[in-house]
Amino acid sequence: MIVLGIESSCDETGVGVIDLAADGTLTVLADKVASSMQQHARFGGVVPEIASRAHLEEMGPVMRAALAHAGVERPDAVAATVGPGLAGALLVGASAAKAYAAAWGVPFYGVNHLGGHVAVANLEGDRLPHSVALLVSGGHTQLLEVEAVGKPMRELGSTLDDAAGEAYDKVSRLLGLGYPGGPVIDRLAARGDRNAIAFPRALTKKSDSRHDFSFSGLKTAVARYVEAAEREGRVISVEDVCASFQEAVCDVLTMKAVRACQDVDAQVLLLGGGVAANSRLRELALQRCQAAGIELRVPSFPLCTDNGVMIAAVAAQLIHEGASPSALTVGTDPGLEVEIPLLQG
Ligand code: KG4
Ligand code: ZN
Repeated sequence: MIVLGIESSCDETGVGVIDLAADGTLTVLADKVASSMQQHARFGGVVPEIASRAHLEEMGPVMRAALAHAGVERPDAVAATVGPGLAGALLVGASAAKAYAAAWGVPFYGVNHLGGHVAVANLEGDRLPHSVALLVSGGHTQLLEVEAVGKPMRELGSTLDDAAGEAYDKVSRLLGLGYPGGPVIDRLAARGDRNAIAFPRALTKKSDSRHDFSFSGLKTAVARYVEAAEREGRVISVEDVCASFQEAVCDVLTMKAVRACQDVDAQVLLLGGGVAANSRLRELALQRCQAAGIELRVPSFPLCTDNGVMIAAVAAQLIHEGASPSALTVGTDPGLEVEIPLLQG
């Protein structure tokens, strides 16, 4: 059975095609993504209206490229992200998916985006057991307890303000390093001293929330540091600022992720989202997981960032378990809860 997935919750237009075998084995046939990231660069972050328009322009071409690559004319099911995400962006992908499903006469599945980030784990390696997922991107920063792919998840914690990737992007902007900030800060940090500046680790006191994050104070601390240096005429080392900022982010993320695994007795920590590409995050997560006897799973980079395959993977798992399709009247929900893997309507 051929399952096609459409992703459009943020700035990536993705179409993925998966072959679901009778025994539940999944084979990726196509994974095409167009990103509007460069169109947002001069604004320092994703502009929802620009993202929506870009989805509209890219949907047809990306769909045709994915079908051609997979050698498929008509899939047996069409899935799309219905939330969480940007309202207008979600509407474009979900509307397209419903239109394709209606035209082809095949069922439609309205899928949770965050479940997609988790589902890619089953495309590489063993089936994901009971685990904790740390999802970190420009849009999300969450710790989720996962029973299995396609099952309702439980949110253990999330950011109270900026997402981890957003913090990278904002710090990059104030250092004049451009957008997106993650890759350039990661590169410069490698040449800096991560202990040079003691930036704050928010919500790490005993009395603080165990699983929530906050990054806006850290961003402000970096701004204050740079402003003070300018005022006093000191030359700063951008490399040291990057390394120290990155250490503060990754220290808290990995400490809380391992703690969450221990709290819910999970043997596996799964990383997802664009920030999962970060070299220090991976290094520190590996060190701390090994010390705690936890297995770390990091999907390959194209599967960490937003794509259509992740949506097809959730739908394929649900179809394999006999889930009913969504009604074509089902809406999109920018604030869709993690407890809902499939919106049936
Ligand atoms: O998942 P993604 O491609 O898109 C969404 O946010 O939906 O993630 C993009 C985010 C950006 O904030 C970018 O700065 C960050 O991921 N990022 C990184 C790295 N590569 C990308 N952050 C830290 N280190 C990296 N190497
Ligand atoms: Zn995402």
